[in-house]
Amino acid sequence: MDAMGSMLYEGKAKKIFAAARPDQVVHYFKDDATAFNAEKRGTIVDKGVVNNRVSERLFTLIEEKGIPTHFLKRLSDREMLTKKVAIVPVEVVVRNLVAGSLAKRLGLRVGDAIEPAIVEFYYKNDALGDPLVNDDHLRLMNVATPGVLRELRELAHKVNAVLKPFFDERKMQLVDFKLEFGLFHNKLILADEISPDTCRFWDMETGESMDKDRFRKDMGKIEEAYQEVLKRVCG
Ligand code: TMP
Ligand code: ASP
Repeated sequence: MDAMGSMLYEGKAKKIFAAARPDQVVHYFKDDATAFNAEKRGTIVDKGVVNNRVSERLFTLIEEKGIPTHFLKRLSDREMLTKKVAIVPVEVVVRNLVAGSLAKRLGLRVGDAIEPAIVEFYYKNDALGDPLVNDDHLRLMNVATPGVLRELRELAHKVNAVLKPFFDERKMQLVDFKLEFGLFHNKLILADEISPDTCRFWDMETGESMDKDRFRKDMGKIEEAYQEVLKRVCG
């Protein structure tokens, strides 16, 4: 039995609890949704259930392809048991198509293909609003060494090579996504979650957003989109 212990941390979308073993934790996926560094807040009904199941499926797939993750098992609708990692405070974003902040920052046309895919680093810091940074900035701040950054970039491309065809088969365009990594016994492994909160998916038939952009931009049919992602990924 994986008894749940005291709460160790509460984030915007998840709570982390101690597990029976000191090197493991339990993630509880909430329905709380935030955007624009938590300036916008709301609830997406059953988002926690969807994100837990979608993350389980994707972490399992990624592990099968030989990339280590923190995932151990799904405990319930909203709870996942993982390895306890020290999170590297870098948000690693992979982009296959132009969208979001990239389109805005560089004036590029939304939907244009990016080949080969690009990787961006954001410094994970709420007070600073998660700024875009380069390798030198991260090295300057002692957040990551050049070796670690090289590995993060490599792992991010490998995850993309696994996920892109998986979503293609499900008639979903994997536009972009954000990954977080952590250290476990001195090894970098994939952590956090992979879900409609952390990815952009466009329906290949209709071009419609099937992700958190529906919440960010008040597009409506948010719950329906999350349920559709669950169906296509896990159904
Ligand atoms: P962006 O275009 O807003 O920079 O987002 C790139 C990707 O990262 C997109 O798939 C959404 C995801 N993302 C997060 O997971 N968390 C965040 O805080 C932000 C801003 C983006
Ligand atoms: N997770 C981010 C926040 O609240 C935003 C986002 O995903 O757009 O602030």
